[in-house]
Amino acid sequence: MEELVIASNNKGKIREIKAMINNLSLLSLNDIGFTDEIAEPYDTFNENAAVKAETVHKYSGKNVFADDSGICVPALGGKPGVHSAYYAGLPRDNERNLEKLIEDMRDKEDRSAYYKAIICLVWNGQTYYFEGECHGTLATQKTGTGGFGYDPIFIPEGYSHTFGELSQEVKNKLSHRGVAVRKMVEFIKQQIGA
Ligand code: IMP
Repeated sequence: MEELVIASNNKGKIREIKAMINNLSLLSLNDIGFTDEIAEPYDTFNENAAVKAETVHKYSGKNVFADDSGICVPALGGKPGVHSAYYAGLPRDNERNLEKLIEDMRDKEDRSAYYKAIICLVWNGQTYYFEGECHGTLATQKTGTGGFGYDPIFIPEGYSHTFGELSQEVKNKLSHRGVAVRKMVEFIKQQIGA
């Protein structure tokens, strides 16, 4: 079976991605012995995804993909966006980020938001990008314990519950990462003739 490394240490993400890919042997950074934290210094999802994928490719020589993702809120001028992981500052803390977003949205009428994911894939030495978005609205209070990050307040379009309450299966079907991962999997299937 073809091997593919996921350039991430985020357990929530790895769990979600593993559930979406069947016919590839997925390796985590732990599996390949890569222990460094890779900085995400850029202001675009593409550049941050690329630096992660390329760093791990140089280390391992294997096919690898990285995603960079975040939540974009029009009422906040697009923030937290590419800085979603550090919205409440360092050290990176999902719970504090969520509390800050709830607070920053307290008096906002426009509660629309969308998650965005960019995947950078290094496949046989070539670099490819895949994109996914998931649109919805932000609840004023958190509900549910599923997913991770901002999920307890994110209500996807067409639903009345947050990603914190909806099942992992539903989230994978709708999510930005699900859309991008499926595009990548289709591409890889073509490449390997699966
Ligand atoms: P990065 O892609 O590792 O830089 O981090 C993305 C950050 O965006 C996460 O730490 C979360 O704060 C947020 N995020 C991205 N995708 C999701 C998601 O599916 N649910 C909740 N939060 C997410």
